[in-house]
Amino acid sequence: MTLAEYLTAQQHLVEQALDRNVPPESCEPEVIHKAMRYSLFAGGKRIRPVLCIAAAEAVCDAPIGVENAACALELIHTYSLIHDDLPALDNDDLRRGRPTCHKVFGEAMAILAGDSLLTRAFEVLSALPHIDDARKVRLVFELAAAAGDKGGMIAGQVHDLEGEQQHPTAHLLDRIHRAKTGALLRASVRMGAIYAGADDHELAALTRYGEHIGLAFQIVDDLLDVEQSSEQLGKTAGKDAEQHKITFPAVYGLERSHEMAEEERLAAHTALQPFDARAIRLRQLADLIVQRTA
Ligand code: IPE
Ligand code: IPE
Ligand code: MG
Ligand code: MG
Ligand code: MG
Repeated sequence: MTLAEYLTAQQHLVEQALDRNVPPESCEPEVIHKAMRYSLFAGGKRIRPVLCIAAAEAVCDAPIGVENAACALELIHTYSLIHDDLPALDNDDLRRGRPTCHKVFGEAMAILAGDSLLTRAFEVLSALPHIDDARKVRLVFELAAAAGDKGGMIAGQVHDLEGEQQHPTAHLLDRIHRAKTGALLRASVRMGAIYAGADDHELAALTRYGEHIGLAFQIVDDLLDVEQSSEQLGKTAGKDAEQHKITFPAVYGLERSHEMAEEERLAAHTALQPFDARAIRLRQLADLIVQRTA
């Protein structure tokens, strides 16, 4: 199976899991379910759930039901995007090729749709059908910590916003990126590994892999903001410079940023050395994260 075929198959599994785990638009109160589904089913790349599934497959052959745990990551991610786009944060009009959630449903409903996706993620994890309670608790902890205020996504968003008023330095940049995006990508890999019953050595190696691809992912996100069009990205290009964000291009320039993304890609491959052919998809995903154009 080629990587493209693998991605299509996994994305299909994830779409089905999301559809099962989020109430239909007809469910009361209808407007919140419409707003949640509007942002969720707008064609995201689903990179976090796919990483989760691929990490589980690197640990055991057929991790039954892992797509349900994987979809919790996408619920958190989509919530973070809805809130990231709000006027009080990045104030964006375009996301996943569509007007942003608050443009269509209003700010109040967009805030609540984000809150609701966040809450549902933990409902999904706590109701996972195929694993024992101890493992579910570990998954809940991983996701909460990665999304949270101590080195997680919220911490990163706070540093990102404060950074608009600060001189860009390598130290501030590192702190922003490891938390804002890195933590959830690291958790994507770790949750797949935990779901599949990884031992301590496997988990440590996959964690290193997750940290490298997490950093690579946001370096590339910053580069794409400079180098691609809004049409290509499905979100507003050129926003980071306009809003004085602390980004890799702002601190290191374009050429060095590309080199650093490549260094992270190679380090991710090195982290996977203890794994045999079962980690092939993780290797390919590291390449894809750095070579992507959207
Ligand atoms: C964009 O994430 C926001 C960041 C955390 C950098 P993605 O590039 O994964 O966005 P989607 O999910 O494909 O829309
Ligand atoms: C957002 O980072 C990361 C999140 C936690 C959502 P960005 O602000 O760089 O994401 P984009 O570029 O708007 O997708
Ligand atoms: Mg932002
Ligand atoms: Mg943004
Ligand atoms: Mg960005």
